[in-house]
Amino acid sequence: MNFLSELRARLSQALTGLVDDPAPYVGMLKPAQDAKFGDFQANCAMSLKGVLNKPPRDIATLIVSRLSLDDLCEPPEIAGPGFINFRLKTDQIATATQQLIRDDRLGVAPVTEPRTYVVDFSGPNVAKPMHVGHLRSTVIGHALDKILRFLGHTVISDNHVGDWGTQFGMIIYGYKHFRDDAAYQADPVRELARLYRLVNQLGDYHTLGTELPALEASVTTATRTLELAQATATKKPEDKDLARAARKAQNDLKSAQDELASAQKKRQAVENDPALKSLADAHPQIAELARAETAKLHAGDAENQTLWDQFIPQCLAELQKMYARFDLKFDHTLGESHFNPLLAGVVEDLLQRGIATESDGAICVFVDGFAAPFIIRKANGAYTYATTDLATVQYRVKEWQADVILYVVDARQSEHFQQLFATCRKIGFDTVDMRHVSFGTVLGEDNRAFKTRSGDTIGLESLLDEAIDHARIIVRKNIDGKVHGADLSASEIDEIAKVVGIGGIIYADLHHNRDSDYVFSWEKMLAKTGDTATYIQYAYARAQGIFNKQSIDINSLRCQSQNIHISRLEERTLALQLIGFQSALLDVVTDYRPHYLTQYLFKLANDFATFYEECPVLKEADAGIRQSRLLLCDLTARILKKGLELLGIEVREIM
Ligand code: ARG
Repeated sequence: MNFLSELRARLSQALTGLVDDPAPYVGMLKPAQDAKFGDFQANCAMSLKGVLNKPPRDIATLIVSRLSLDDLCEPPEIAGPGFINFRLKTDQIATATQQLIRDDRLGVAPVTEPRTYVVDFSGPNVAKPMHVGHLRSTVIGHALDKILRFLGHTVISDNHVGDWGTQFGMIIYGYKHFRDDAAYQADPVRELARLYRLVNQLGDYHTLGTELPALEASVTTATRTLELAQATATKKPEDKDLARAARKAQNDLKSAQDELASAQKKRQAVENDPALKSLADAHPQIAELARAETAKLHAGDAENQTLWDQFIPQCLAELQKMYARFDLKFDHTLGESHFNPLLAGVVEDLLQRGIATESDGAICVFVDGFAAPFIIRKANGAYTYATTDLATVQYRVKEWQADVILYVVDARQSEHFQQLFATCRKIGFDTVDMRHVSFGTVLGEDNRAFKTRSGDTIGLESLLDEAIDHARIIVRKNIDGKVHGADLSASEIDEIAKVVGIGGIIYADLHHNRDSDYVFSWEKMLAKTGDTATYIQYAYARAQGIFNKQSIDINSLRCQSQNIHISRLEERTLALQLIGFQSALLDVVTDYRPHYLTQYLFKLANDFATFYEECPVLKEADAGIRQSRLLLCDLTARILKKGLELLGIEVREIM
């Protein structure tokens, strides 16, 4: 039984007749923050003060008098200004826990109204090295995909790869002029990535060259603005607005200086390298010519199409290697190119219906509240990311009957998605619920976007390898001195290191509220104590280990007895957490936030640790209590394993 929803249903009944719409007040009943206040707490009496015109404590008393809870709870208590505290009857907890023992779904009933979700995640731009932003999307999307499926929804995962964008013109240009045949034979994707970086670097060199005077001018202007602002502020030191303006001018100058310095650094990198410099001199038009290659590809040029056909399978196979390490399989990988044939029709349709209009030669949709229009065809005739996304929505609704589309994409694209959703509403897609599941940036210890020492946006493959190397050290340290340690072969240790390393990366990402930026730290990520995958994986191994140690047959135990005895506080706390698995998963999908599941699992691992310390299991003399405690260990192990699995994280029984 899901006690939280049952209590909410009862509260709703109690409020019916008192208020017009109980729903918002019912949502204020939540698991208690502190066990000393009971198991659940409702603070709605305070919010109802203005509605019912009574002191909150009186309202709380009124609500309690209308509640019928005798079967589930001890009599509710009113505390402080009007909190209502609920404590479940212990036998109710025991019964609910017992029901999990033979339940494969561990108390998680399939949803009564399944919906069709399209989850759009990962979406790297192929042939460019994938970076940690795409890692976040991959990890968050994968978790949501698995949780929604487990809850009984129909889920279609679609990897909207960038396989048609401007980078292809750059790669084609690079391939035609700079390719190293031997390198291409040996590792085509690596060579394509090199070509991409090279063309990008040479293009930047020339573009920045023309921009330098403007960048220098903005530093001069910003310096003058700052001098002026500081002079004015000094005259009136008490004026906060002037002080603020001076600080802003200071920041503006810093940004202008940074931008100039970064441009100069990029120029110098080419100038200091004679080989690069001579390539740059030989290709002064490289940026335009690369764009022209993209345009030719889009216009159906046979040579470029042949090259594209040759590159794409190799790039996708490379991506696949990465996904295999996360045990991730997409239902579809319909990249941008897939929608190319539909784009002209999308623009035509929007023009005809008056939703899009021409402006300076471009075709635009003007969305209220946005300064910039949503451009669906540029003045030069090129279609955009926006056009492709519109075609993609139409496809997903028509072909897959999507009820909900989740876009797991970097927060920096939020404007794009707001405009996309607004445009879709104008078109009349009002049955599909579209959500931008946005996320923040991964930062290095210096609080700037995470980069490798070389300054490149980090390559994912090497990041995963590094995680496994770090994990191997931890795993070795842990098994040294353990009785079974010596039994683990090098390949078994590698296997555990893989599970700990990859799990660590995934968990470190998911345990943050997805909106926030976070600092990437190996040390925190793989710590054996604290809110990490490693800690939970070890808790699993410990809970599971009891059975291996004594060769106890779990299956016969589950069949023999289903009696959970709760006499100790630690047993009660653990059992209460075990029966909250469904609630945690429902919390995740309310606003697509996987950290609710990591929080749940972390608490479960902690509750288990306390239980295990305080309550003897194998040494317990009373056979009934011993069995009950073994069953609690078994349930803990099962839920930890299932929960981690839903996050994309594996476990090992011996670590
Ligand atoms: N390829 C895009 C990028 O790297 C992400 C695609 C997200 N999905 C979408 N339907 N726009 O930024």
